Amino acid sequence: MLPSLVIAAAVAAAAGGSFAALAKRAFPGGTAAVPREITVSRTAPVLPAGTPVHLLAVSDLHYISPKLNDGGEFFRRTVENADGKLTERSEEFLAALEAQTLKERPDALVISGDLTFNGEHQSLRDLKETFGRIREKGVTVLVLPGNHDVSYPMAVNFTGKGTERVKNVSQAEFLEECREFGYGAAEEKDRASFSYYYPLSEDFALLFLDANTEAAPGALLPETLDFAERVLKRARQKGVTVVTVTHQNVLPQNRLYGDAFAVRNRKETAALLKKYGVAHNLSGHAHLTHCAAEDGLADHAAGCMSLAPFRIARITVCGKQADYRNGILEVPPELREEGEARARQTIRQQVGAELDRLSLPPEIRENLVASAVRFNRAYFSGELDPEAFRKDPGLTLWKEYASGTLFWSYMQSAD
Ligand SMILES: [Fe+2]
Repeated sequence: MLPSLVIAAAVAAAAGGSFAALAKRAFPGGTAAVPREITVSRTAPVLPAGTPVHLLAVSDLHYISPKLNDGGEFFRRTVENADGKLTERSEEFLAALEAQTLKERPDALVISGDLTFNGEHQSLRDLKETFGRIREKGVTVLVLPGNHDVSYPMAVNFTGKGTERVKNVSQAEFLEECREFGYGAAEEKDRASFSYYYPLSEDFALLFLDANTEAAPGALLPETLDFAERVLKRARQKGVTVVTVTHQNVLPQNRLYGDAFAVRNRKETAALLKKYGVAHNLSGHAHLTHCAAEDGLADHAAGCMSLAPFRIARITVCGKQADYRNGILEVPPELREEGEARARQTIRQQVGAELDRLSLPPEIRENLVASAVRFNRAYFSGELDPEAFRKDPGLTLWKEYASGTLFWSYMQSAD
């Protein structure tokens, strides 16, 4: 288990938190057999070349169905002691996403994985209803499974003082439930995973790469890499710009945590994308809003949608040009304040626990905590200006009193 810092808690939550630590998965090797004869019609026609394409992108919804929690003490404590997400307000975030998507009417709503809290089948069914309504109203919804969505071992219903296991979602079931949201209408489908190639205009396409199969959780299968290469080669021949989508990152987003959030074979994956001139990858998983860049490839990690400040992203692609902008999910002020308070409280608890080991004077401790809250809010929301933060009054105190802590190393690692 990683140390109890917010970024670490986000890692833990992204990876399944303490639940995952309790239940190590053991999947057999080889390629999962997934039925391929799944075809549905496109929501909207392919646009003519040269048309600007607008995407709304979100990640890590971590939605839990209201049917799976009783709002009781155990559920409350579980979500309050997690990584700062406002999980108990899942339904409201989903409604806000639906409303904003239908208001903005992008050419596609792109969701880069971890749709569900912990892979509950009921949660995916609820999401399917919402995504289906968006689709019926003419907006294309394109999804990718995250590490929490397929064969997740800790799908539970919260009941009173404990939990009971509920049905999770197999790889084949994910494909069946989500066939209308990308894969079924894709121009090209990978035979080994939920990876697919989806043109939105004659000169722009999205390539979704699924690294969360039952055969190789966390890595892109060799078959998937072959599929990606075949598709990228053809796109290059036709002069089509491709933006790729993964759940895990393809470039490290933080120096301290390195590859902890990345696709396991991320070097091979990033090399392939660079080889074919992919300039932008959309990812999530770390719950951190951040962009890492290397050799002309930018990996845009979107924040977790239910963690304040509730990040979304807007991407406009026209020809070879892509413009990526962070945005905010529109939620009622009371929900926003509650989410911000949850995030603040989480970092206060986690940094406070580390500082308590140093027996500092209360005033110093409070100043350090306040500085940590400011840092974390800025870093996680993608608004950190490292130069400006170096002038933060609390930083001198951190250096003087707490430079041996992990949180200090974490603050140093952000750029
Ligand atoms: Fe994840």
